[in-house]
Amino acid sequence: MPAKEFNKAIILEHPSGSRAEVALFGATLTSWSVGGVERIFVSKQAKRDGSKAIRGGIPICFPIFGTKDTIALPQHGFARNNYWEYLGIVSDNDEVSVRFGLKDTQIPQEARNAWPHSFRLTYTVSLTSGSIKTFITVKNEDEDTFEFNTLLHTYFNDVTKSAVEGLTSCEYIDKVNNAAKFTEENKKVTINKEVDRVYKAVKGDIFLEVGNDTLIKIEKSNLKDTVVWNPWVEKAESMNDFGNEEYKNMICVEAGSVADWVTLGGGQTWTAGQTLTVL
Ligand code: BG6
Repeated sequence: MPAKEFNKAIILEHPSGSRAEVALFGATLTSWSVGGVERIFVSKQAKRDGSKAIRGGIPICFPIFGTKDTIALPQHGFARNNYWEYLGIVSDNDEVSVRFGLKDTQIPQEARNAWPHSFRLTYTVSLTSGSIKTFITVKNEDEDTFEFNTLLHTYFNDVTKSAVEGLTSCEYIDKVNNAAKFTEENKKVTINKEVDRVYKAVKGDIFLEVGNDTLIKIEKSNLKDTVVWNPWVEKAESMNDFGNEEYKNMICVEAGSVADWVTLGGGQTWTAGQTLTVL
């Protein structure tokens, strides 16, 4: 079988040898390997028992990014903190594709009170020999319009040799600098201190250089913004599900729609996602 359930996770295996794992908790992709090399970072201290969002992989932020004064949800919303339903294999031809679902009736009452809307999320993960697609569909099952943010909070392995290309000339909000606004002047963004930036309206693909001269292309679909995050020394030390030295092993490059709300009319659906390709 190209996809099987094991230990509350779905394991995808492509005939080429590429492989991925998606935990049912949060539908969090926790592993993606191509050519026998793991491309995704998960902290050695990540909680894997459903008590907290998994620290690493691709947690899904929905329906908020960060925290909001007016919406009493935990940081980054409830999608990454709840078990999703495995909806099965969608395709097992050239790509191995599986689907997960989360709807309002599957989340705790407290979260439903904080964000009182009927919704259905469908998350499709598709693996080929050299790429992985992670796409989310949001269906508004209310009659009224609702608003949301969403983001694929992707943790890639390695920061020491990492550089992010494709952000030049984009305006960004610098969250470690009182949300001051800047314009990116560098051709390549490298990390040598705490970085927490929301790049707005990023057009075109992002290219992430990682160790061993590898390039990963990040193609976004219907996700305007890109967040770049690394906690660096002090923040790493303050996180209880992250090793003090692990900031050296990861870089988050997160495709999302977070600078502005997405507005979705009653009965409407919205789809967005990313395709990651090892070049
Ligand atoms: C990033 C945010 O997306 O996620 C950061 O921009 C935040 O501000 C980081 O610190 C990690 O968030 P969390 O809730 O997983 O610790």
